[in-house]
Amino acid sequence: MEQVMERSVEQGAEAPVLGLPANYYRSPEVFRRARERIFLKSWLFACHASRLPEPGSYFAFSILDQDLFVIRGRDGGLRCFFNVCRHRGHALVEGVGRSRVLVCPYHAWTYDLEGRLRGAPGTRGLANFDAAGICLTEVKLEVFCGFVFVNLDPEARPMGEVFPGVEAAVRALCPDIDDRAFAEEHEAEEACNWLVAVENYNECYHCKVVHKTFASGVIDPQSYNISGFGETQCLHHAAKAQSGAGAWYDTSGSDYGSFFLWPGFSLQIYPSGLVNTYHWQPLAPEATRVFRGWYSRDGTIDDDLRKVIDLDRDTTFAEDLTLVKSVQRGLGSLGYRPGPLVINPREGIDSEHSIAKLHDWLREAVDV
Ligand code: FES
Ligand SMILES: [Fe+2]
Repeated sequence: MEQVMERSVEQGAEAPVLGLPANYYRSPEVFRRARERIFLKSWLFACHASRLPEPGSYFAFSILDQDLFVIRGRDGGLRCFFNVCRHRGHALVEGVGRSRVLVCPYHAWTYDLEGRLRGAPGTRGLANFDAAGICLTEVKLEVFCGFVFVNLDPEARPMGEVFPGVEAAVRALCPDIDDRAFAEEHEAEEACNWLVAVENYNECYHCKVVHKTFASGVIDPQSYNISGFGETQCLHHAAKAQSGAGAWYDTSGSDYGSFFLWPGFSLQIYPSGLVNTYHWQPLAPEATRVFRGWYSRDGTIDDDLRKVIDLDRDTTFAEDLTLVKSVQRGLGSLGYRPGPLVINPREGIDSEHSIAKLHDWLREAVDV
């Protein structure tokens, strides 16, 4: 065996890069480590700023078992708080809405839009009750090209340091990105680990096989490439626009670009500046929620955008749901063995070098 290995080295042959063992996608312990070391420490997408138009507008969401909400204050600023009352822990808001103050549904403690306790029934005159010292627990928040991100780690570095240069690259491709407005979102539960879904998104080796309408309707597959974005945990997808007879809409004007921000968000600019997103929320080791968002110039959906949203949902989006479910089931097979990734040093659509990067980022975090 040693002789064989020596000869391989002499001839310059490299061992193939293998996929990950199945436990990375199935084990509750790996999932627990990913929660603590990745999701509770990374910048995660909450919602688009346009969904919070006025003081008091709020948007409730969850990151795993943590319930949160973003709210616009009287000062116009956006803040994120844990969705938990400082009295005995009831949730404060649900869904999307607007309120002048936040009134807890349990005992009616009332908070202002900046999270300060303003009223608690029956506490006036109580010597041992200090309302002034009670405030909702705040979470770090940043707006990235109009998209609101939060980070549960109080020590987190700013997004500009974590993803240097990415905002500028997005704006170079889509100069009016900061003025977009939320148009529509749909979501689905995927029967797979979050990394299976994220891997599937971050390679286009399967596009010509499975996403025939996307590969003939949106992008020119031969030009597709995914590359690292400097040393950041970002993957940059780029392709020329598809202009053939099968194009879904008028794709002239600008090409395709997508920016995947580890661990669970991707901002896609379809040709001619059609902005859309994916984001993934882990639910359990083998369950993930995927959200597909669309953003237009004024929040309305014209005929072209309607056609693209519906076509995408019925083809690419639906096709990926089937793929990831089958892969997750395969990972539970007694016959599963990690296979070789197809890595081409020249990259290109048929190369899975991007998958190897995702594996490195996962293992950096979860390996003991
Ligand atoms: S738990 Fe909110 S007022 Fe009691
Ligand atoms: Fe896909």
